[in-house]
Amino acid sequence: MNHPPKTMRAVALSGHGGLDKLEFHADWPAPVCGEGEVLIRISACGLNNTDVNTRTGWYSKSVTNATGEGEGEAGDAAWGSAPIKFPRIQGADVVGVVAAVGGGVDKNLGGRRVMVDAWLRDWNDPQNLNKTGYLGSERDGGYAEWLSVDARNVHTVDSTLSDAELATFATSGVTAENMLNRAAVTTGDAVLIPGASGGVGSALIQLANRRGARAIAMCGADKAEAVRAIGAAAVLPRAPGDLQAALSGAGFATVTVVADVVGGALFPQLLSALSRGGRYTCAGAIAGPMVELDLRTCYLHDLTLSGATVPPPGAFADLVRYIERGEIKPLLAAAYPLEKLRDAQQAFMEKGHVGNIVVTMK
Ligand SMILES: NC(=O)c1ccc[n+]([C@@H]2O[C@H](COP(=O)([O-])OP(=O)(O)OC[C@H]3O[C@@H](n4cnc5c(N)ncnc54)[C@H](OP(=O)(O)O)[C@@H]3O)[C@@H](O)[C@H]2O)c1
Repeated sequence: MNHPPKTMRAVALSGHGGLDKLEFHADWPAPVCGEGEVLIRISACGLNNTDVNTRTGWYSKSVTNATGEGEGEAGDAAWGSAPIKFPRIQGADVVGVVAAVGGGVDKNLGGRRVMVDAWLRDWNDPQNLNKTGYLGSERDGGYAEWLSVDARNVHTVDSTLSDAELATFATSGVTAENMLNRAAVTTGDAVLIPGASGGVGSALIQLANRRGARAIAMCGADKAEAVRAIGAAAVLPRAPGDLQAALSGAGFATVTVVADVVGGALFPQLLSALSRGGRYTCAGAIAGPMVELDLRTCYLHDLTLSGATVPPPGAFADLVRYIERGEIKPLLAAAYPLEKLRDAQQAFMEKGHVGNIVVTMK
């Protein structure tokens, strides 16, 4: 069917809390296609920690522990400045086919296979990073059969990869590319990557390599072989007692860049691993947001620290080009049917996987 029914299968988040807040519905109201929008028949949608962080309220400043352990209910429990409106269909990494186009949209988009850039922008002021939202957070996302979204968020993709494979890329890939841009990573850089087995970390390895940099990965021992196969020049333990010694043992006296999504207790050692003038860029704190910073390490070594969340417009189009050219490969760890989103998220939180987990709609 190419035209949406009045209702659809969807998983709606009913509020902050446990996995039971993810409620499957067989007859959720289907979206309609507005002016300037497209209607997408979704085939797959990738999971992300932001789903978990939003559900548990981890973004609240009142929460100071690792992802998955926080339970904030405060008004600041969203990633952005406004509280989440419930019920909300989460899911950012949407892949599907355009089934209908709204007024003012190029009709040639109809029938095309697309990936969706999850960054919602004010298209009258697209460079303004303050005027942004995220699909599945400020607007209903992809844990459903149908999605309506601004046509400018939609990118056609020409690839032999499966829909589930394509659904592994969006959030991780664009975040990793944004981090590497923020740290100006280029040929010859040695980039240390904690959390390298995960979605962002595995994308960082591949995207650093395509720039001619060397990736030094940190991950759990059971994932070391898989992480090396992604293209890491060296693989270190996720929590080496002495990071400096582990780096030296792998042939790296220092690194020029740290691209971090882990944070937590590791942070002081990560910063100390940087050479003079080194760059630390951060897009996550899965092991904990509260870290110990010795400012002397920062200023005496002329370090630059950057945060990376909202990429400028254009980053997603770059990512799609890399995918189409085969410069970045998918790492699909598992696919679950939409109805099993709770099981999928449970597995995602257990972190036994390498790459990413997706749900599929058929
Ligand atoms: N700012 C943004 O826009 C943005 C975008 C995407 C993600 N993020 C954030 O970045 C972080 C990583 O995202 P991701 O998608 O790459 O995550 P992921 O796929 O879940 O991978 C994270 C990896 O970190 C490692 N890790 C190390 N210490 C950990 C700990 N204490 N608890 C759990 N995992 C730990 C684990 O690998 P090992 O077992 O191998 O150590 C895990 O597989 C999350 O906090 C996420 O919210 C932010």
